[in-house]
Amino acid sequence: MVGIRTHDLRKVYNSAPPFGAGGGSPPAQRGKQKKPKPEIVALDGLSLEVAAGEVFGLLGPNGAGKSTTVGILTTRVQPTGGQAWIGEHDVWKQQVPVKRVIGVVAQRPNLDFSLTAREILAFHGAYFGLDSHERTKRADALLERFKLTDRADQMVRGFSGGMMQRLSIARAMMHDPQVLFLDEPSAGLDPQTRLLLWEIIREYNHSGKTILLTTHNMEEADALSHRLAIIDHGRMIALGTPGDLKASVPGGYLLRLRFGTNSPELLEKLRSLAGVREVRPVEPNGADVYADRGGSLIPEVATFAASSGAELHDVNISEPSLENLFLHHTGRSLRE
Ligand SMILES: Nc1ncnc2c1ncn2[C@@H]1O[C@H](COP(=O)(O)OP(=O)(O)O)[C@@H](O)[C@H]1O
Ligand SMILES: [Mg+2]
Repeated sequence: MVGIRTHDLRKVYNSAPPFGAGGGSPPAQRGKQKKPKPEIVALDGLSLEVAAGEVFGLLGPNGAGKSTTVGILTTRVQPTGGQAWIGEHDVWKQQVPVKRVIGVVAQRPNLDFSLTAREILAFHGAYFGLDSHERTKRADALLERFKLTDRADQMVRGFSGGMMQRLSIARAMMHDPQVLFLDEPSAGLDPQTRLLLWEIIREYNHSGKTILLTTHNMEEADALSHRLAIIDHGRMIALGTPGDLKASVPGGYLLRLRFGTNSPELLEKLRSLAGVREVRPVEPNGADVYADRGGSLIPEVATFAASSGAELHDVNISEPSLENLFLHHTGRSLRE
């Protein structure tokens, strides 16, 4: 069994991100004058340790540095600083043995459109040295597992996005890699296929494999990861089991309140309510209240609001979640 480790990884890009990369803005207009080289700090000292046999989640918003981390760990992106290992092997210096033990599903499917699904799996197997009997056996099993058997001999050109995504994952598993990287594996999948994928990921892990998956979907990170790291701007902001992380949100519950007017005295009063752990003003007329209870606070909040002349306009209550933890750390929503 093989683990993953990074130490103080840094990545600075010196060119504008390709269109479609995380956090990227659309290509800039071509100006007359030369612009200075951009410096985009994608990773700012990221140290991770993923145990062999673990499902580890990298959760973060667009542009957080998830794909860059996966790129470095899979030999496709050269780090600007720091080190990365797959098992005993330094990823950048020992690319060949690293490539042998990893499987990768990139964020954007990169399948050859002029091949059939079965050919894609078979060629991949051949590339990794599987004999023809083994190739056929594994390809059949994976096509079946990913519900692609009836499309096996059709060209990928005509596949839907979800079918291509399933085939990309099947291909990455074809050589039975010890370590599997899945970069936003369920983006664009319908809910039913997403559940199928979750089942397959768990199954694969139960056969002793290490899995690193990235997602900006907190439910997915929560459902699949043994442990996860929340990253933002190339830095780790929280690390732990989903349960521990959720329990680390003050109180657990988050009440997002919006009032008719801005009232600092009201916020002060809210701080005094039983069960309220933290109150943060949100511009212009709101507050985020972290508390150890949810709905039962509302009557008291409404009464306080009315007596302060700041009517309660909107309430949103959420239970302990990774989303709340992210919000608590960054003041931003993962969904934004
Ligand atoms: N090839 C690239 N060239 C320049 N900038 C990049 C490139 N790839 C990513 N970036 C930038 O690096 C940051 C991190 O991107 P990325 O690792 O793709 O984040 P995520 O996968 O979490 O969305 C973003 O600001 C993104 O625009
Ligand atoms: Mg990405």
